[in-house]
Amino acid sequence: MSQKKTILVTGGAGYIGRCTAYVLAQNGYQPVLIDNFSTGRRAMVGELTCFDLDLTDRKSTLEAFRKSQDVVGVIHLAAKALVGESVEKPYEYLRNNFLSTLNVAEAAAMSGVCVLHSSSCAVYGVPEKLPILETTPRSPVSPYGAAKAMAEDVLAQFVRHKGLRALNLRYFNPAGSMGNGQYGELHEPETHLIPNVVGAFLGGKPIRVFGSDFPTPDGTCVRDYIHIEDLVGAHLVALEKLLAPGSLKVESLNIGSGKGVSVKEVLEAASSVLGGKVPHEMAPRRAGDPAELVADIAQAKAILGWEPKKSLNDMIRDHHQWVTGRAKKLL
Ligand code: UFG
Repeated sequence: MSQKKTILVTGGAGYIGRCTAYVLAQNGYQPVLIDNFSTGRRAMVGELTCFDLDLTDRKSTLEAFRKSQDVVGVIHLAAKALVGESVEKPYEYLRNNFLSTLNVAEAAAMSGVCVLHSSSCAVYGVPEKLPILETTPRSPVSPYGAAKAMAEDVLAQFVRHKGLRALNLRYFNPAGSMGNGQYGELHEPETHLIPNVVGAFLGGKPIRVFGSDFPTPDGTCVRDYIHIEDLVGAHLVALEKLLAPGSLKVESLNIGSGKGVSVKEVLEAASSVLGGKVPHEMAPRRAGDPAELVADIAQAKAILGWEPKKSLNDMIRDHHQWVTGRAKKLL
């Protein structure tokens, strides 16, 4: 029997990491997690192997790669990932996200394995034109976005000088759960819109709508929400391309739905999907929120042969399923 290909998933005990590992396992790979459990949850590791280590530590990172047999690739998701917090703590964000990517890049290059890097639309900052193309000049406004841009640059150096195969997937706004509500998003504190909307519906604090005077059709911010299942699906096809040397000619791809949705529209969709009112109140703008971020996903569609299938309603319904089911036991 042939040995399964091992994929290291950094940040594997977090939301996107664990969903990715679930899909890798379903598709015949052997996911092995790496997490320092700063925000990831031990209960989410389940039956999988996990290295409990800090990727900013070069020695333990190299050792984990050395110990992992049959590893062919790494999906690098581990990062501090809150835009607002990054403004408060630029040193922590820049140090952590830069150093961990540097160590992953070196370890991957030394082991001859490819890197699929979880980047972000935050690298674009406040773009002049919408939808956002990958060729839009990067101009991050937050330390989080700056650290993601630095991480992309680190990988590019290893691609150029060490023959590393790497691809940046620039995520827009992932939401929802997977595996029939078994894997989903659970942050403390939670800052993301869809979890907060569902939380407000379930009796939590009323959702605060940050800003109603943006230059958008209804005055609230417009974002590009993508179902986690579609996002993870993009990883799977991107990984297969990366594993076939020479088949990828790009460095970065936008991964979103390609559709803009306002905060008000999310609230309306939630009321209709969940069947009740979502208590909310208007609040001042949140620092650093661009009015509108929507991806141009033509490249991802053409290059990966991928296309998002799930709707905003699916994201809300699936998040609700997770948060009223398995997530309750984790708190
Ligand atoms: N919002 C509210 N109330 C809330 C939470 C969010 O009104 O309680 C609004 C925000 O102001 C924003 C929209 O809902 O307009 C979406 O906010 P999220 O916090 O869910 O997501 P962001 O768009 O701020 O963040 C996303 C990714 C980041 C990325 C960032 C780039 O999660 O990784 O886009 O701007 F860096």
